[in-house]
Amino acid sequence: MNDLTQHGIERDRRFVWHPFTEQETWCGEGNEIILIERGEGVWLWDTQGRRYFDGNSSIWTNIHGHGHPHIVASIKRQAETLCHSSFLGLSHAGAGELAEKLCGFFPQGTLTRVFFSDNGSTAVECALKMALQYRMQNGEDGRQGIVALANGYHGDTMGAAALGGVDLFFQRFRQFGMKVDFVAGVDELEKIDASHVAAVVLEPMIQGVNQMRPWPVGMLAQIRGWCDRRGVHLILDEVMTGFGRTGKMFACEHEGVIPDFLCLAKGLTGGTMPLAATLTTEEIYKKFLGKENVFYYGHSYTANPLGCAAALASLEVFARYGKDELAEKCEIFSSLLAKFDGMPQVKEVRQCGLIAGIELHGESGTGQAVCLAARKHGLLTRPILNTVVLMPPLCSTAEEMKFATDALASAIRAATC
Ligand SMILES: Cc1ncc(COP(=O)(O)O)c(C=O)c1O
Repeated sequence: MNDLTQHGIERDRRFVWHPFTEQETWCGEGNEIILIERGEGVWLWDTQGRRYFDGNSSIWTNIHGHGHPHIVASIKRQAETLCHSSFLGLSHAGAGELAEKLCGFFPQGTLTRVFFSDNGSTAVECALKMALQYRMQNGEDGRQGIVALANGYHGDTMGAAALGGVDLFFQRFRQFGMKVDFVAGVDELEKIDASHVAAVVLEPMIQGVNQMRPWPVGMLAQIRGWCDRRGVHLILDEVMTGFGRTGKMFACEHEGVIPDFLCLAKGLTGGTMPLAATLTTEEIYKKFLGKENVFYYGHSYTANPLGCAAALASLEVFARYGKDELAEKCEIFSSLLAKFDGMPQVKEVRQCGLIAGIELHGESGTGQAVCLAARKHGLLTRPILNTVVLMPPLCSTAEEMKFATDALASAIRAATC
């Protein structure tokens, strides 16, 4: 082991606290800590020179590959001019340009306003507060309920966490958070008394943290219909599904649905800089005009110029995609996933675009064991319980996706023999 690796690991064990991590195990001698040093395209290299396929797109953020020259050049140019300034009482050109481009993905007059923040949780937090404050300013004080989908995940700040349906993560804090009604699907939603509901929130097309579970076809449009009939707002959390992940730019396009609030983060900058956006309608925005209606919400790095420059460059890279390129990639991925169907260790393969969850049979810890074995085959990814996530960056070639699926198949065999 070289000095850089050794010292890096020692310092990590001594000083760092990792997210969603049982630190005793993490810091134990038995846990090999990998220090990532460099990335290019779909590949990551550690400090010992080992190369890995970025199989969970760097926690679902990486779109066009690491170190994309166009995005890097845009960030560099921006950094030489201005890294950051306040968005309170000031603006910068990149924010307006990005806001216009994001609204431009939706039919004119639908989503027309963009509120920037830093990450997926804050994008959701912001939509939530807007949805609640809107009701207060619309003479509907009694409408403060939120309906969320069971087993959903929307982030970890207190408001976003209150919408989370995974008890392991959120149960401890429910007593402090907002009151939320959870429904398993449309049938249960139909039974909800909408008169007290401000908004319904969900991850469209597929729930990520719930082990990559796609929704039944048509459900999103049905929920939009339910909301429309009852004057309830629809918040779509496209933090994971946005920016091409599901085969279309946004997952809501699959069912021709336009939400009242759209939450974007992760892939917004192509996976380079922390930036988030909450889009909403002019009708909602107008309720916040006037001194008494101000939306008192924001963060120091709101609309960070480096993030905006990265996002604009990422959208320019998207514009270079051929008409059917993304759909073709999804089909290739689908045919490559077929190799898992015949494996006795595999319980179910779930896919939506370039998102896959390979659920394994076996005792708890099998998913983790497979992911550890995958490292030896040049693949980095993570399990959610016994479901191994495979989420190739959108830029992956057919050969690269084949490498990733072959590596995972080998790891499954190695870890379960
Ligand atoms: C659907 C969804 N919403 C929100 C979040 C929270 O995003 P962040 O981790 O950037 O706060 C995530 C993160 O995985 C997510 O998958």
